[in-house]
Amino acid sequence: MKCKFIIYRFDPAKDTAPHFDEYEVEAEPSDKILDCLNKIRWEHDPTLAYRFSCAHGICGSDALMINGRVELACQKLVMDFKTANNFVIEPLPFFNVVKDLVVDLKPFFNKHRRIKPYLINPDAPPDKERLQDRQIQEFIEPALRCILCASCTASCPINRVNENYAGPAALLRAFRYVFDPRDTATDERIESLNSEDGAWGCRTMWWCTDVCPKGIPVTKCIGQIKRLIKEKDKLKNALGEYMEDKNV
Ligand code: SF4
Ligand code: FES
Repeated sequence: MKCKFIIYRFDPAKDTAPHFDEYEVEAEPSDKILDCLNKIRWEHDPTLAYRFSCAHGICGSDALMINGRVELACQKLVMDFKTANNFVIEPLPFFNVVKDLVVDLKPFFNKHRRIKPYLINPDAPPDKERLQDRQIQEFIEPALRCILCASCTASCPINRVNENYAGPAALLRAFRYVFDPRDTATDERIESLNSEDGAWGCRTMWWCTDVCPKGIPVTKCIGQIKRLIKEKDKLKNALGEYMEDKNV
């Protein structure tokens, strides 16, 4: 069937303002939106810029706006949309456009780095590995599904009013480490999260959870950080009980 794609275009090297270009593509209902973008680039306009890599929802590089909603282009099929055969494709909101559908994700990854997204434990490692408790592993598992696509952060309205707010993806990663007993920097992490730039910046608007292509309960995980800040001692004394009581 014929599909019309209306695509945001902006090349700062030659354009003074963004505009939209229209393309007609022959597509199957089962084609991914990414397949259609590829067709446009390969068959109509090789200057169209967009990101992708795995094409299977793993790398997180092709998040963009499809008909007004943040989606992964490789996870959405033509038949997933009720808008007949018309598609409006725009770059992720909030971030600056580098070219067409490519945005500058440096601010996103800088915030991610700020929360120290790695295990901190100065003790000598055991002979084999630092074993994880099964119950705790299940508790933090949702955060491990994050592919850093930035959809949540692009959709979060708090970023627009506080540029220092860590944002949902960084807080989700922080959640993963503050609840991991193998990490020894819990107090330091909690202290840095205990502010408006950290967990308290979240106003529980759920937009991050709504757009997450991996179905991660991002807002609930941030809520767990807030509870942990308030109930730190309880956690230290009875981690298992706390987990049962506060399941994500
Ligand atoms: Fe993407 Fe979901 Fe991770 Fe946010 S939490 S970066 S939306 S996978
Ligand atoms: Fe990798 Fe879509 S191309 S997630």
